[in-house]
Amino acid sequence: KKVSIVGVPMDLGQNRRGVDMGPSAMRYAGVRSRIEKLGHQVEDHGDLHIDFSEKKSSEKKTNLKNLMEVERVNAMLAEKVSHIVEEGSFPLVLGGDHSIAIGTIAGVSKHYENLGVIWIDAHADLNTEDTSPSGNIHGMPLAASLGVGNESLTSLFYPKAKVKPENVVMIGHRDLDQGERELVKAKGIKMYTMHEIDRMGMTKVIEESLTYLKGKTDGIHLSLDLDGLDPTDAPGVGTPVIGGISYREGHLAMEMLAETDLIVSAEFVEVNPILDEKNKTAQVAVALISSLLGDRLL
Ligand code: ARG
Ligand code: MN
Ligand code: MN
Ligand code: MN
Repeated sequence: KKVSIVGVPMDLGQNRRGVDMGPSAMRYAGVRSRIEKLGHQVEDHGDLHIDFSEKKSSEKKTNLKNLMEVERVNAMLAEKVSHIVEEGSFPLVLGGDHSIAIGTIAGVSKHYENLGVIWIDAHADLNTEDTSPSGNIHGMPLAASLGVGNESLTSLFYPKAKVKPENVVMIGHRDLDQGERELVKAKGIKMYTMHEIDRMGMTKVIEESLTYLKGKTDGIHLSLDLDGLDPTDAPGVGTPVIGGISYREGHLAMEMLAETDLIVSAEFVEVNPILDEKNKTAQVAVALISSLLGDRLL
């Protein structure tokens, strides 16, 4: 298949600098050659331009940090991703902080009536400006994609909710804010926290997730926050939480997703090389990408 890489060196969605180097770190870890080795045709669109100087000038009255620039970059990303889908290629978005999921999902969902989303993360990213403890937009992209929160984010690219709550599956969670808990319950979102992964095992979690989404979705986007993995395997992230998905479980999940042919796009976010150990987290990300795109030992 055709795979189109887009780097989004976004770090304005959170507080810790360095996640803007995530795309470079994954390129340095050989993402392109790994995918080419699998027999795919790769087009690297390079990185989107982020204006870091605009950081302080959020003229909109809101507690959302850097809203104007986060909004502008996501609009650009949505445009780009939509174009890639139109070309019949698989968008692979490299972050950057998780706020960029707003743009990726907006771009992909334009082409699917019922886009499914698998969200692998330690956090739910279901905050709004009213519930966010931090004002950081990387804690809000899933809410925004569901049409909940500030209008500049929910109406990005086109003025409609991008995904339906019943088409979302969340995996790997171990850190929720109160407002997020309430939204999960209110919307009845399917969630496999670390508790379920421990009890059922990753195999069952992915099997159930796919059964749940199959039939009602016409494509599935994978949004993978590297902090969903355990910090021992993925230390280079801005908001690490102990007790996460192991490297093995991550691989297993990717391999099982690859076998289905339902995944139509993916993003790998929150790789922060400044906080990393010798680019380990980017290497883990690239290994997971490779598995997702069909890599097998035999
Ligand atoms: N829930 C916290 C917040 O809203 C942390 C979010 C972390 N999100 C992430 N994409 N790493 O600020
Ligand atoms: Mn093109
Ligand atoms: Mn997270
Ligand atoms: Mn996240």
